[in-house]
Amino acid sequence: MNKRILTGITTTGTPHIGNYLGAIKPALELANKFDESFFFLADYHAIIKNSNKAEIEQSVKDVALSWLASGLDPNKSNFYRQSDVPEILELSWILNCVTAKGLMNRSHAYKAATSINTDDEDKGITMGLFSYPVLMAADILLYDANIIPVGKDQLQHIEMTRDVASRVHAKVGEVFVIPEGKVQKENMLVSGTDGQKMSKSKGNVIDIFQTDKALRKQIMSIQTDSTALEAPKKWSTCNSFAIYKLLASDSEIAQMKQNYEAGGYGYGHAKQALFELICNKFSEQRKRYAYYMNNLEEIDQALEFGAKKAALTANAVLKRVRKKIGY
Ligand code: TRP
Repeated sequence: MNKRILTGITTTGTPHIGNYLGAIKPALELANKFDESFFFLADYHAIIKNSNKAEIEQSVKDVALSWLASGLDPNKSNFYRQSDVPEILELSWILNCVTAKGLMNRSHAYKAATSINTDDEDKGITMGLFSYPVLMAADILLYDANIIPVGKDQLQHIEMTRDVASRVHAKVGEVFVIPEGKVQKENMLVSGTDGQKMSKSKGNVIDIFQTDKALRKQIMSIQTDSTALEAPKKWSTCNSFAIYKLLASDSEIAQMKQNYEAGGYGYGHAKQALFELICNKFSEQRKRYAYYMNNLEEIDQALEFGAKKAALTANAVLKRVRKKIGY
């Protein structure tokens, strides 16, 4: 049987360098070792938290762009928007009907939400949030996926997927491929321009894909102290160095440490070096990004094509499931 890798990215927000290094890049590398890969934009998951149409549309575009710019080949992978293969909702309902409510009660996402409410613990909690792991199980089971690269926080959902699939098997016999999670360093701690954890909402991100001018501006805005140009500097507490060391080679890092320690090397120089490093290291990705920005319709075309391709698998699996349970 073919080995398949699958992962979904919720379309809330815009990926940044941390997501690229921790999730996108390793997933694309891993995909090379599999017969088939499925990467999808989880826009039905997005509406659990966000009902703002414009924000979701923007995020779909941003996330798709990041993957395409990073080298995802839509002709090789199955790259699609979750909602473009609506069969997912049928399987999700079928799974809902065998999933124990008690299992969902134990979901971290649900428990985190209930612990905020002290008076009425379920206040403000939708069935969407509550059964979020069931939709995720359907995402995985609908494509007979074997390996699911995810952040550590999502491992519980993979365990739940296995549990739900096994329950179906106990009732009607074997019909699903039981998947395995593979932890990625998704929550890789990347600090932003102000030294805090990088996040779009804090406005401290470095977006490696944007134009030279905008990228340079972001890098020059990295907060540094007021040590004079001539004086030796501490690389260990420098926000610019913290980002540099994530991307540079060992010898580049060693050289940069020397530059700091020797003095006569200003933060402006260090930032310029960071800017050049990003431009050189990600030149392919940056070129692809610029290309898609100028040809936005190709993103939609890629997703439409991906959905058609993914639907072939989805329909075959769903047909098998329907038959098994008596529809
Ligand atoms: N819940 C995942 C996250 O927030 C995204 C996701 C949705 C997913 N469906 C999936 C990941 C299926 C892996 C497989 O990160």
